[in-house]
Amino acid sequence: MADHRSVRGAGITIPGAERLIWYFIRISGVLLILLAGGHVFITHYLNVPSDTTFSFVAGRWANPYWRTFDWLLLMLALWHGVLGLRYSIQDYLPSPTARTAAQGIMWAIGFVFLALGTVTIFTFDAAMMAANEGPLSGQLWIADAIGFSLYAFAVVTYVAIILLVIFTLRSFLTGSFPVYLGGPGQYAWILHRAAGIGILFFLLVHIIDISLIGLGKDLYDASVAFYAQAPLIPMEIMLVGAVVYHALNGIRVMMIDFTGQAYRREKVSFAVVLVLTVLLTIPSAWIIFSSELMP
Ligand code: HEM
Repeated sequence: MADHRSVRGAGITIPGAERLIWYFIRISGVLLILLAGGHVFITHYLNVPSDTTFSFVAGRWANPYWRTFDWLLLMLALWHGVLGLRYSIQDYLPSPTARTAAQGIMWAIGFVFLALGTVTIFTFDAAMMAANEGPLSGQLWIADAIGFSLYAFAVVTYVAIILLVIFTLRSFLTGSFPVYLGGPGQYAWILHRAAGIGILFFLLVHIIDISLIGLGKDLYDASVAFYAQAPLIPMEIMLVGAVVYHALNGIRVMMIDFTGQAYRREKVSFAVVLVLTVLLTIPSAWIIFSSELMP
């Protein structure tokens, strides 16, 4: 990772557009604590994801303030995530051609998904859609295709996590360190990156599944019903954990950037973030687990 992203106050010394991006990621991060935090609280603590049916969304979007809230969340989370992904492109793609191509795809994803989400939020007409006469009404295979792709993604994620745990334990047991030499800041950073990219991936899937609400009421409800399926429950809980960890560690990163405080006590501040992540994720895990699997 480039040094300018972790040294106190160094954002001010970054030249040109890079500096704007550096500040955008931080300002949007602060706003997302309220927007993404509020959204996750409503959908994963006060309700569970499979409750977010057509009537639930139609009820919320009857209020223009909620449409505005959701649109601000869409715009900030999407660009924060996409510009955050740009750091991985810079770090892992040394070839200028590959980098330019990847950044082109990245910008295209940002604009296409922003357009899709914006059209979904602002053109939704509950009265018209309630009659289930949308252009894709009855095409339930689309919900199945999305649901089964999520199953496949969940299986790949679970296998990858199990392999990672085995690899980490084996490394510690044989007295070596996994991947890094073991500074708490390095582990905090790689977890932050993995969580950010994971949330971004989910956001893109979520923009697609929410867009179904304007295309067919039955199709949308069928796709939301997948969230009550057992194979997806651990992934939903991991998503909450990822958002909580990323938000808390983001606050820690900004404290380092602007005050230098957490930098001096990096081990302690990382431990605080981990403990708070577990404590704040447990209530949601219990709510999702008990309402979806023990109704
Ligand atoms: C909830 C509030 C959030 C806060 C406080 C926050 C904070 C931050 C901060 C401070 C950084 C810069 C880290 C650094 O320069 O080392 C960052 C990076 C990033 N964020 Fe967020 N973020 C939030 C939500 C999100 C969301 C919703 C997404 C996904 C859509 C996301 C995806 C990313 C990505 C991919 C990176 C780049 C990580 C890297 O490779 O260094 N973040 N975030």
